[in-house]
Amino acid sequence: MISRVWHGWTTPANTDAYETLFKRKVLSRRVSFDRSIGHTRYSYQIISRSDGFVIDVPSKTQAEIVDYCGTFSGKKTDKFKACNLTPFPSTKISSPAILEFPLNIECATRKSVNLGSHSFFFGEIMAVHCDESILDEKGTIDKRKLQPMCAFLNSYWRLGDSVLEFGRSRLIPRRRKQTP
Ligand SMILES: Cc1cc2nc3c(=O)[nH]c(=O)nc-3n(C[C@H](O)[C@H](O)[C@H](O)COP(=O)(O)O)c2cc1C
Repeated sequence: MISRVWHGWTTPANTDAYETLFKRKVLSRRVSFDRSIGHTRYSYQIISRSDGFVIDVPSKTQAEIVDYCGTFSGKKTDKFKACNLTPFPSTKISSPAILEFPLNIECATRKSVNLGSHSFFFGEIMAVHCDESILDEKGTIDKRKLQPMCAFLNSYWRLGDSVLEFGRSRLIPRRRKQTP
């Protein structure tokens, strides 16, 4: 049961429906993304009319661009122009990606759920594009070269070293409980 309600974006009345969707659509698929977008946003108008959306992953050097795009609305400002960003056509969906961001993940919208003030969009990853500068010699994404960042507690943070790889805890022997 999901009992925590995030700033009223979901209401207690729809937490069960939200949980079911999350389990079925997100956890059951290995390759999926979700976005919750406010209905007042210009992005909401665009995404709801489109067949998908692109997750453009910035590097830590691009925090100012991210902040600008997250602060000003496209209703009044051409954010591509203001931030010198270049749209480039996606291969599987109609929405464009942004060339200057090192990693672009094309998602086809599979489901949208109205949560009152926001809608949740569930997307299936259809294609991934990345800048050559973030690839290693084998052609896979080098997370150190990507230099990702995140937004947390009203600030943007660079992500430091990885502390553990997924699944590693399975390999660590657990200490047996000591009986007194
Ligand atoms: C770091 C950050 C994260 C944000 N995340 C969301 C979000 O998940 N959903 C949302 O609706 N708005 C979010 N916002 C607010 C919108 O980005 C902001 O209202 C923006 O002006 C919307 O632009 P638009 O009208 O062109 O869509 C976020 C803002 C920041 C700075």
